Amino acid sequence: MVEINVRTALYGIIGNPLGHTLSPAVHNAAFRFSGIDAVYLAFETSDPVACLKAARALPINGMSVTIPFKSRILDHLDYVEPAAREIGAVNTVVNRDGILHGWNTDAPAALEALEACSELSHLRCLIIGAGGAAKAVAFALKDRCREVTVSNRTEQSARTLAGSVGCGWTPLSDAHRQKADLVINTTPVGMHPDTGKSPVTEQVLENATAVMDIIYRPRKTLLLETAARLGCTTIGGEEMFLRQAARQYSLWTGKTAPLERMRAAFEEAMKGPR
Ligand code: ATR
Repeated sequence: MVEINVRTALYGIIGNPLGHTLSPAVHNAAFRFSGIDAVYLAFETSDPVACLKAARALPINGMSVTIPFKSRILDHLDYVEPAAREIGAVNTVVNRDGILHGWNTDAPAALEALEACSELSHLRCLIIGAGGAAKAVAFALKDRCREVTVSNRTEQSARTLAGSVGCGWTPLSDAHRQKADLVINTTPVGMHPDTGKSPVTEQVLENATAVMDIIYRPRKTLLLETAARLGCTTIGGEEMFLRQAARQYSLWTGKTAPLERMRAAFEEAMKGPR
């Protein structure tokens, strides 16, 4: 830990609940590695708007935003970058002299994680879920994949998301009919401690060559285990998580993030208590 002093800059994450977050471990490791005099804390809150006010007043130089506030804070920022506005979700706040700027680093992070493993242009992609993360992934992929379809427990949300992105949607019960090459889970189904669950049946994966889960605890969800057994390439949630964090670091500091150091901090923190 850097020695905290009168000039130490403050960063943090707002969300609720935050018990599971590995963001402090990863960002503090990056600051330390780069010799940046800053600390990053977890602020579990029920009032994100008050946190934005606090960010201006204290100041807090930058914030990560997570469930369930990514959409809610949009109208309380001074400037929202166009892509984040289009997605309708902000996961990064940059405080520039009291002016709060909102960004979405989830979308490019999802794309980067997928592009590292697969050529996307010929793939039919099925996104499970229709929340904030699904929106970011759908916007990231809509012009990159041959076809994008969303499927969600609540059909109306899938329909609405498909309408705003300009992609297709299908009821979960019909998801196997898509014959998707790439399946992405953006729901919490399968996350610790409910690790025995999968968001889709095995049938949905029958045509898949690659499967990504945005969950990183456990590292191999039941969905990814099934996908691996079926011979698919699997992409764990840590890839998108680390890349969205690296982009946040760059927005805050203007520097390239020490991604491998952040990955090492992530691995170390994963060994710790949940
Ligand atoms: P995030 O911002 O992380 O995407 P969110 O906006 O709360 O979080 O969205 C969570 C998504 O996971 C939603 O699509 C939700 O489905 P509903 O729209 O039907 O609520 C989905 N989800 C959450 N729990 C689920 C469950 N047990 N089974 C299926 N889908 C679930």
